[in-house]
Amino acid sequence: MSLKCLVFIYLLCELCSAYKVLVVFPLPGKSHSILGEGYVRHLVNAGHEVTYLTAIPAKMKSENLRHILLESNFKYFPEDEILDISKMLSKETEMTSLRTVLEVMYTLANATVNHPNVQNLMNNLDEKFDLVIAEWMYNELYAGIAAVFKCPLIWSSSVNPHPLVLALIDEAPNPAYAADLVQSDAVPPFTFWERCQELWTQIHTQYMLWQLRAGDNQVYIDAFTPPFQKRGQALPPYEEVKYNASLILGNSHVSTGEAIRLPINHINIGGYHIDEVVKPLPKDLQEIMDNAKNGVIYFSMGSMLKSRSMPNELKRRILDMFSQLKQTVLWKFEEDLPNLPKNVHILKWAPQQSILAHPNCILFITHGGLLSTTEALHFGVPIIGIPMFADQALNVKRAQSKGFAIKVTFDNDVPDNLKAAITEILGNPKYRERVTELSFVHHHRPVSPSTELLHWVDHVVKTRGAPHLRSPALMMPWYQKYYLDLVAIILVVLIAVIRLIKMILCSSNNKSAIGSKKFN
Ligand SMILES: *[C@@H]1O[C@H](CO)[C@@H](O)[C@H](O)[C@H]1NC(C)=O
Repeated sequence: MSLKCLVFIYLLCELCSAYKVLVVFPLPGKSHSILGEGYVRHLVNAGHEVTYLTAIPAKMKSENLRHILLESNFKYFPEDEILDISKMLSKETEMTSLRTVLEVMYTLANATVNHPNVQNLMNNLDEKFDLVIAEWMYNELYAGIAAVFKCPLIWSSSVNPHPLVLALIDEAPNPAYAADLVQSDAVPPFTFWERCQELWTQIHTQYMLWQLRAGDNQVYIDAFTPPFQKRGQALPPYEEVKYNASLILGNSHVSTGEAIRLPINHINIGGYHIDEVVKPLPKDLQEIMDNAKNGVIYFSMGSMLKSRSMPNELKRRILDMFSQLKQTVLWKFEEDLPNLPKNVHILKWAPQQSILAHPNCILFITHGGLLSTTEALHFGVPIIGIPMFADQALNVKRAQSKGFAIKVTFDNDVPDNLKAAITEILGNPKYRERVTELSFVHHHRPVSPSTELLHWVDHVVKTRGAPHLRSPALMMPWYQKYYLDLVAIILVVLIAVIRLIKMILCSSNNKSAIGSKKFN
């Protein structure tokens, strides 16, 4: 009886601990909004009160969900322009340059923290939060928002752990085995040349960050001084705020990334965006997939890249190639194509997870975005990756080295190369076997990614920022980590000793010289 009572009180307490969480996902990209909405969904369903700072409103509705919309952010991230396939073919746009990424993200973060809606929120003394969860995208300005509300900060990282993100809570890993995300597609073990490149990339990245530092700091001062003044407080230094996050929740897992060691406050929750229960397919699609005797190939270049911007000739040749296959092809495409072969179906909107979950889905042709790669593993479907930008090259290369993918380069030979890759991946059972093994690894965790997410949110709030999880490496200057101060002392002592010995030798020489008058 009393035990039951205790359990009841415990459950009641659990229910009571509803937090006010500010979720900051201002990047107006579809895949980023899927990740942001993943947090919103899990938090709201757990009874927390969520304020969602975003350019793309969440689809879910709830009394516990308030939107703060930043529609003007689309100006700073014109997806269609940046990610135009034709321009990529002719190499007019280059999203693989870190400098471009840094500049775009800096502009976006600057616009966000200065947005009237965000300024109003920060300058309103009635607003209180228990926690800020912000997406880290090559800029730390959002850390200032948590500082304003004097609450803990959790960074959300959209990708597998990489040097820049780990440096926020610990330190960059050794470039000898940890690749940069945007600028590299190397998979360990690295060759000598790759190792040199990774080292250079880390040094060069530090240089670029250093160049942007002054501008960034000025934006921080301009945007955050008013809310601090309003509270009668002095603005803390940016460097302090920047490295003050309690932990990182990463859209990552060893099944899609590398088994590099992680600081204790980097938590892998890769797959948290995937629905726990697969939604049913629309009736027509269900029928097509059920009746596909030879299996279904699902082709989608993701939510950011519009297939529409693909040259017409190339579309035609891809269609011709598909028409020669005995499988059914579902092509996610935003426009109708004339003279469609019988086995090809165009989907303007594709319920990707439900398609991949169908037992007849035997192959996924993708741009290799991390969400798509994770979903392919979740549902156990091998992939052909056609990487375009950002981390896609690295994702596809990793998937290939893990054995469940084939990489195809996006150029004018793509129809022929795609055909060869399809023949190989469907003809050779090893790809399916491998993806089944890795799918097991992906699922075999002590708790689901969403349970993990909620646990760490709870932990951070209850322990007021989880200071016990902070890495001692964080605040240590790099020269101390490499013992360069010790090296300097040894060098100084060594030089002094050598000098001393020389002096003694010289003076004794001189004495003996004087004694023997040898040189006179
Ligand atoms: C640093 O984080 C702690 C705990 O999350 C928080 O209480 C504190 O206000 C933060 N400090 C600054 C300068 O933001």
